[in-house]
Amino acid sequence: MTTPTIAHDPALDALWMPFTANKAFKARPRLLVSAKDMHYQSDDGRQILDGTAGLWCVNAGHSRAPIVEAISKAAATLDFAPAFQMGHPGSFQLATKLKGILPAGIDHVFFSNSGSEAVDSALKIAMAYHIARGEPQRSRFVGRLRGYHGVGFGGISVGGIEPNKKPFAAQLLPGVDHLPHTHDLSQNAFSKGQPAWGAHLADALEEIVATRGADTIAAVIVEPMAGSTGVLIPPAGYLERLRALCDAHGILLIFDEVITGFGRLGTPFAAQAFNVIPDMITLAKGVTNAAVPMGATCVQGKIYDTVINATEQGIEFFHGYTYSGHPLAAAAGLATLDLYAAEDTFARAAAMAPYWEAAVHSLCGAPHVIDVRNLGIVAGVELEARAGRPGSRAYDVFVDCFFNQNLLVRVTGDIIALSPPLIISRAQIDELVGKLRRALDATT
Ligand SMILES: Cc1ncc(COP(=O)(O)O)c(C=O)c1O
Repeated sequence: MTTPTIAHDPALDALWMPFTANKAFKARPRLLVSAKDMHYQSDDGRQILDGTAGLWCVNAGHSRAPIVEAISKAAATLDFAPAFQMGHPGSFQLATKLKGILPAGIDHVFFSNSGSEAVDSALKIAMAYHIARGEPQRSRFVGRLRGYHGVGFGGISVGGIEPNKKPFAAQLLPGVDHLPHTHDLSQNAFSKGQPAWGAHLADALEEIVATRGADTIAAVIVEPMAGSTGVLIPPAGYLERLRALCDAHGILLIFDEVITGFGRLGTPFAAQAFNVIPDMITLAKGVTNAAVPMGATCVQGKIYDTVINATEQGIEFFHGYTYSGHPLAAAAGLATLDLYAAEDTFARAAAMAPYWEAAVHSLCGAPHVIDVRNLGIVAGVELEARAGRPGSRAYDVFVDCFFNQNLLVRVTGDIIALSPPLIISRAQIDELVGKLRRALDATT
């Protein structure tokens, strides 16, 4: 079947855009040409307030001078160094610096280039760890419905987003079960911070253990706060329960902190905000303020030691990427972590969170809004879906925000996710909420 092509600029033809309605985009493009601090500039010269930190990643604001300078210097000094059997100082320095802000005990860092790669690396490390411990049959994984762990076959298998999996269902990882998600508006609507209801949902792990046998399960992977599927905030006590159950059954717990890392919840990582320490943390995005692609899988010392010591001679772990710890990414990461420290970005986000909470909850009662939820500098605004056209209302709000309000928001289904750079001021929070309110008013 061929679909009629909508007339569009032929200069846009060649690019196949990711996770984008290509035809709709090309018929009415939304092009960004530059960015500085809290704003993008569109190709028609408008200043667009960034309500999403790009894609949950530009935590320190756009085009920050120290990061730009570090990248330029690195490009002129050491453009590339092989990552296999060779090294360069920057990746060792960045691993050490990350160790300084990771939860105590998570002290080894395996670099990759994206969140998806960090997740697939984590799944492989979990299997390698159990093999090295003498329990090779522990190869199953447990994910969670509405979890997003990137787009590798491992990530979509443990992830819980139907459209991302369905076309590939014939070839997903075979040994995966899913916990229920924790989002229930009949219990949790208009929560401020962690909802009180839902800790018991972690107990579904017991049922999976009873069915599969604990000694077949390598790891549980969850986002401590699910972002991509619409800001699903963990109920009070839920993550603690998951940690306790994993401990009881010898199962590794992986927190996918690709969006919660680097201050989004007011601490370096969500693990510290919730005071629940996993065995592994995957990260990406904010590690370089998104200026150069980078991901990492950070593990407890016991995992590194077990895998490394299981091999007497030669390569201990057959996995890695040409660009693992790339010199430009390492330089960007070092400059970014210095900038976060110099500006006390994470503590600033924590201090701003109450103002943010009050501002976003002022949208209660706005047209179509059936829920507002928040944590740190994140909010989800859920809209009532149009009958028979789920997602269309939030998409219209997104388009109105961009073209008419000069505001960038992100939508998933009928949920508007807000996650601005952590440098946002009170006046800019008010501006963001005001613009969104106008877009809601303008949408049928
Ligand atoms: C929790 C989580 N994991 C993994 C990913 C995938 O990251 P990437 O797009 O860099 O592969 C994302 C992306 O948004 C994410 O939010």
